[in-house]
Amino acid sequence: MNTIVWKVDKYVDNLERNPQVVDAARFLRENEVVAIPTETVYGLGGNAESDEAVEKIYMAKGRPGDNPLIIHIAEKEQLNRFVAEIPAKAQILMDKFWPGPLTIIFKLKEGILSEKATAGLATVGVRMPAHPVALALLKTCGLPIAAPSANSSGKPSPTKADHVIDDLNGKIAGVLDGGSTGVGVESTVLDCTEEIPVILRPGGVTKEQLEDVIGKVVIDRALVDESAKPKAPGMKYRHYAPNAEMYLVSGSREFLQQLVVEKRREGLQVGVLTTKEYQYDYKADVVLACGERADLESVAAALYDTLRRFNQLNVDVIFSEMFPGSGVGEAIMNRLQKAAGHKVITEK
Ligand code: TXA
Ligand code: MG
Repeated sequence: MNTIVWKVDKYVDNLERNPQVVDAARFLRENEVVAIPTETVYGLGGNAESDEAVEKIYMAKGRPGDNPLIIHIAEKEQLNRFVAEIPAKAQILMDKFWPGPLTIIFKLKEGILSEKATAGLATVGVRMPAHPVALALLKTCGLPIAAPSANSSGKPSPTKADHVIDDLNGKIAGVLDGGSTGVGVESTVLDCTEEIPVILRPGGVTKEQLEDVIGKVVIDRALVDESAKPKAPGMKYRHYAPNAEMYLVSGSREFLQQLVVEKRREGLQVGVLTTKEYQYDYKADVVLACGERADLESVAAALYDTLRRFNQLNVDVIFSEMFPGSGVGEAIMNRLQKAAGHKVITEK
């Protein structure tokens, strides 16, 4: 299959009439799959009401069929078609954070969406992306669009159209290239079917921001206790993994440098993941600055691109600095922990 790349400037007006967007919307209506820029990461979109389209998504990504997809909409009214009820707290959150990086889990109204999209669960995750190209496409095709991140399953999520092409070229109908995404980590997944909402995946909207609006929110135990079973099926899979063996380092920069020296002595190519502030403090084969530590949002925005760059540079081992776990740092640390397979080396 020839994968079309449609370049779209996200700043122009009337994107609904942009010929590239109209083209991509036609493919979606024909049950083809198309990669779409969102404010978090690129998604691989397909008609959520069509088994045929949803199967194509799972096939292209090599994604396990028990991992449900997030449904993307452009208007809140679309919810009534496939959601059984909208709890009061969910309504408040939608009014405050949509469009934006918050996925809300609702009870499903059966019979509308492809059961493959919801992996046969009685619930469904929905979000309204805050990206002009994604919104224009959703409005133009008029369908609920199932869209997981547009990477091969297990790889870091794509934050640029080039990342999508690296993973999925020839496997999908096209990609709308709207430039780099903004937030850089995926949406927060919040289960609102419980009286006290539960964060199943930390993401672009922080726990603090949610609690400011609806009061107490809890974090799924599986996010802190590795042995507990996660409620978001996708959280049990190894994810975001670079090809190299990766370790998080808790301790001083001198300690991290010492680890680098030891591995290099073994003849290995060693990479360091740090930030702009400290990039000249290390001597290693590859040192990559992932944003600025003083601005954690810049770290989130650069994270997946940095992990992918280590792959291109063929390092054997990566030592990564750690980040504070509050605000968007919670999502950053969650992704780094997964990328490292939870391997942490602590300075004594
Ligand atoms: O920012 C995002 O959310 C991106 C963009 C493209 O919108 N999408 C994304 O989708 O990250 P994906 O498929 O890579 O991750 C969806 C996560 C998985 O961990 C999945 O298990 C969970 O959401 N999820 C989806 N539906 C669920 C449900 N009904 N109950 C629990 N977890 C669910
Ligand atoms: Mg994903």
